[in-house]
Amino acid sequence: MKIIKAKDYNDLSRKAANIISAQIIMKPNCVLGLATGSTPIGTYKQLVEWYEKGDLDFSEVTTVNLDEYKGLPRENDQSYYYFMNDNLFSKVNINKNQTYLPDGMIEDSEQACREYNAVIHSLGGVDLQLLGLGHNGHIGFNEPGIAFETETHCVTLSERTIKANMRFFVSEADVPRQAYTMGIKTIMSAHHILLVVSGEDKADIVKEAFFGPVTPQVPASILQLHNHVTIVADEAALSKCEEL
Ligand code: F6R
Repeated sequence: MKIIKAKDYNDLSRKAANIISAQIIMKPNCVLGLATGSTPIGTYKQLVEWYEKGDLDFSEVTTVNLDEYKGLPRENDQSYYYFMNDNLFSKVNINKNQTYLPDGMIEDSEQACREYNAVIHSLGGVDLQLLGLGHNGHIGFNEPGIAFETETHCVTLSERTIKANMRFFVSEADVPRQAYTMGIKTIMSAHHILLVVSGEDKADIVKEAFFGPVTPQVPASILQLHNHVTIVADEAALSKCEEL
């Protein structure tokens, strides 16, 4: 596990975008696993900027996102489809037919997960998987206690995650209670994992996840066992890691 210390959020975003752009340059037809949430927004912004300058070409890239709320249509501005379109897909020359997210509007959870697993398998593996880190150690929507062997599945969000995500909705009642997410097994099968984490409020979980025991109670701790993980974190997020 390689931990790259960034000065602040902007520096973190640039460093993470550098790693993603290197992946695209080295393998133009790569499969990128993507994340939503606040942390990667700066990374996407930087990638768009480099695309606009002519330094990046997304035409052969395929993307698979980690997760999607169940029950939100794509047009809903809180759906992860909308987020990805808004922050990246509509701003670069990616082929939209090569961008995948779980379909939140499939009511039958088993069918939705089966279909998404089939998509991921058909792509032959994820070259670079981008992740954020939840305050409770979740990755994707894999909440504490989840079995490490799972593939795409339907989850009921924890109270803490609902509260954390509430800031994007009109009220807490509007936050969907369920989501489809890639499982830990799917995430762990990516060739390279890039986790971005920022802010003092994440300092405790960073220490627990990357310097504590590997346990399903802290889903991100499993990343300690992956052989190619890069963590890009700002100083605030690393402030409790005396080990560094
Ligand atoms: C997003 C996702 C989540 C977030 C995590 C951190 O697709 O799967 O695991 O990465 O909740 O979110 P932020 O970056 O908003 O703190």
